[in-house]
Amino acid sequence: MLHTPLCDLLGIGVPIIQAGMGWDKEGMTTPPELVAAVSNAGGLGCIGGSSIRPEVIRERIRRVRALTDKPFGVDITLPKMEDVKVPDPDEVKKEIAEKFPQHAAFTSNLIPKLGLTAQPPDRKSWVKTPHATREQLKVILEEGVPILIIGLGDTAEVVPLAHEKGIKVMALAGAVKHALSHARKGADVIIAQGYEAGGHTGTIGNFPLIPQIVDAVKPLPVVAAGGIADGRGVAAALALGAVGVWCGTAFLVSEECGIHPAYKSQILNGSSEDFVRTAYTSGHFARHYRSDVIKAWMGSGLEAMPTPYQGAAMDEIRRAAEAADRTEVLQVPGGQVAGMLSREKSAIPAKVIVERMVEGAAQILNNMRSHYVGA
Ligand SMILES: Cc1cc2nc3c(=O)[nH]c(=O)nc-3n(C[C@H](O)[C@H](O)[C@H](O)COP(=O)(O)O)c2cc1C
Repeated sequence: MLHTPLCDLLGIGVPIIQAGMGWDKEGMTTPPELVAAVSNAGGLGCIGGSSIRPEVIRERIRRVRALTDKPFGVDITLPKMEDVKVPDPDEVKKEIAEKFPQHAAFTSNLIPKLGLTAQPPDRKSWVKTPHATREQLKVILEEGVPILIIGLGDTAEVVPLAHEKGIKVMALAGAVKHALSHARKGADVIIAQGYEAGGHTGTIGNFPLIPQIVDAVKPLPVVAAGGIADGRGVAAALALGAVGVWCGTAFLVSEECGIHPAYKSQILNGSSEDFVRTAYTSGHFARHYRSDVIKAWMGSGLEAMPTPYQGAAMDEIRRAAEAADRTEVLQVPGGQVAGMLSREKSAIPAKVIVERMVEGAAQILNNMRSHYVGA
């Protein structure tokens, strides 16, 4: 019903891609059931692998393969590829207290203010260092997944390794210069992601961004990301020159998505204004729900600390909230399009999300041709 050159390139039926999302350490944001449901519906499901252990990525890939024989992808992010030591949490905390006393006070005051109790550092938890990222990549290459998506970072080292194994590479760009860089390094598809998107995002809205990236990287195919949740968004993306869509927030309300119910409810009930962009989580700008933590951060007037301090301070509050099962206070990622999802009363099967996008877009494109074009 809706066929573009992307379908032929990736071997899929319809140009709808469920974005890789890596919010939780167990990979429950994009569990194999979600990935397989999207691929089985003719789209492309993607495992959000960025924040999960290499061995869990392997297990998830195998589980997806048990659930579908259709193509799927794995998304990871690439921090700078030089090796760094895993920072000791006590030392990092001491350094924050010395170098950034206002930030230290922000964290230690906010925890009790939210009714939470500080938790000891988690020394056993897996940490995504550059070395660990290499291990993630090794697993993906060994498993020979059909498609690798690079959400953040330099694609130079990865593209030849993937191509050697016959794996296609798609890379995200929030600006023309990033798209050109991925194109020069041999990416097969550029995903142009606008300001409205959930998770890490740039500063340019999709209407000016997508056509500029399409023109800059021609003849490479471009997929549009950010703010797309129904057929209208899909049709608009195609009109701007994209050959497919990459959607994250829309699939957070799928039945198969395993995020905490409080988080799902924020996506279902939040307005577009509730999803704001701050550097709170990692020091890089990302869009998330304006929860109590984010309101406190925005009201503090503080700027994000450099790596690894900002992530460590954020993690302290996250551990305290998770210990109390208070996910609703955290900075859960989500895009402005969440405001459109409030018409859903509850979670819906991923297959239905894909079908509605395809049918909606096909109908709009047909209607436009018969109503707006011609004499
Ligand atoms: C919950 C959540 C987690 C995300 N995690 C990642 C990630 O780990 N890696 C990545 O490349 N992008 C991540 N993103 C961005 C998505 O892959 C996608 O680019 C974005 O959701 C598209 O915008 P939309 O949410 O408006 O559809 C995340 C987005 C969300 C909402």
